[in-house]
Amino acid sequence: MIPGASSAGRLAGCNALVTGAASGIGAAVSRRFAAEGARVWLADIDAAGGEALARTLREAGQDARFLPLDVTQDAHWSRAMNAVRDADGGLDILVNNAGTTFLKPLQETSLEDFRRVMRINTESVFAGIGAATPLLAARGDRRLGGASVVNVASLLGRKALPGNLAYGASKAAVLHVGKCAALEFARAGIPIRVNNVLPAMIETPLITRDIEAWARHGALAPQAARDELARRIPVGRLGQAGEVADAVLYLASCESSFTTGIDLPVCGGRSAE
Ligand code: NAI
Repeated sequence: MIPGASSAGRLAGCNALVTGAASGIGAAVSRRFAAEGARVWLADIDAAGGEALARTLREAGQDARFLPLDVTQDAHWSRAMNAVRDADGGLDILVNNAGTTFLKPLQETSLEDFRRVMRINTESVFAGIGAATPLLAARGDRRLGGASVVNVASLLGRKALPGNLAYGASKAAVLHVGKCAALEFARAGIPIRVNNVLPAMIETPLITRDIEAWARHGALAPQAARDELARRIPVGRLGQAGEVADAVLYLASCESSFTTGIDLPVCGGRSAE
C-alpha cells in the first residue's frame, strides 16, 4: 500500500497494467488486483472479453479500464503507455502475462511458427519492459521496494518437453529477460523489481485447448487425458488461475519488497521432481 492511500487493500493507491487480461490467468490477476484496491488497466487483443471484464469489475465498485493492446506491436505499447501516462502519470505494476501455446515436434515446426511464438511470448516481454520503464521508474520511489514487473513464464521454460520446443524456448528466454532486467535495474539504482512466475497445468482456456489436442493425438477422451495429466502432478490435480494470481499479487505488492530476479514456480510440486 502507498503511504497516505485512502482505500483499503494490499494494492491501494497503485495502478497496474495486465496483458492478456481478458482470459484465464490474466483475468484472475486483474480480478485479484482490483479487489485489492488497484486501478487495473486490462490490456488484450480480445476487446469484447476485456471490455466485459472491465465493466463487471466497475459494476462491483472497482477501478478497471480496458486497453486495446497487441503485445507484439511497438506502436500499441507506445499508445498504451501514453494512455496510462495521461491518466495516471506513472505505473506501479506491469504484469507481462499474454501468451500463446504451441505443441508440435521440431520436425513439424517451421521457422515462421518458431518466430510467431517468440514474438508473442518473448519479444512482448522485452517490448513491455522497455516501453513501461520510464513510467515504472517515475512511480518506483514512492513504493517500498519500488515498482514491480511480474512476467508469467512457465515451468516449461525450465523443463524440456518433447513436442514443446518453440514454447519452451520462448519461456526459457522470458526467465532470462526477467532476471537480467532485475539485476540491471537493481545495480543502476532504478526502483523497479522484476520477477518471474512459473505456472504449470492451470485450468484455463489455453490448457483446455492443449488437453484436447493431446487427447486427439493419443486417441483419448478429453476427460481421460485430463485425468492422466492430473495424475502426473504431485498434488494430483490441475491448478486454478486464482492460485497463480495469488503468487503474482505477492510479487506485485510491497510484501515482496526485498525480492527481485526470482523464478517462482506455481505447479503443484512439479518443480521439485
Ligand atoms: P488464455 O489463453 O486463457 O489467455 C491468454 C490471453 O492472452 C487471452 O486473453 C488472449 O486474447 C491474450 N493474448 C494472446 N495474444 C495476445 C497478444 N498478441 N496481445 C495481447 N493479448 C494477447 O491463457 P492462460 O492459460 O491464461 O495463459 C496466460 C499466460 O500463462 C501465458 O503466457 C501462458 O503461456 C502462461 N502459462 C499458462 C499455463 C497454464 O497451464 N494455463 C502454464 C504455464 C504458463
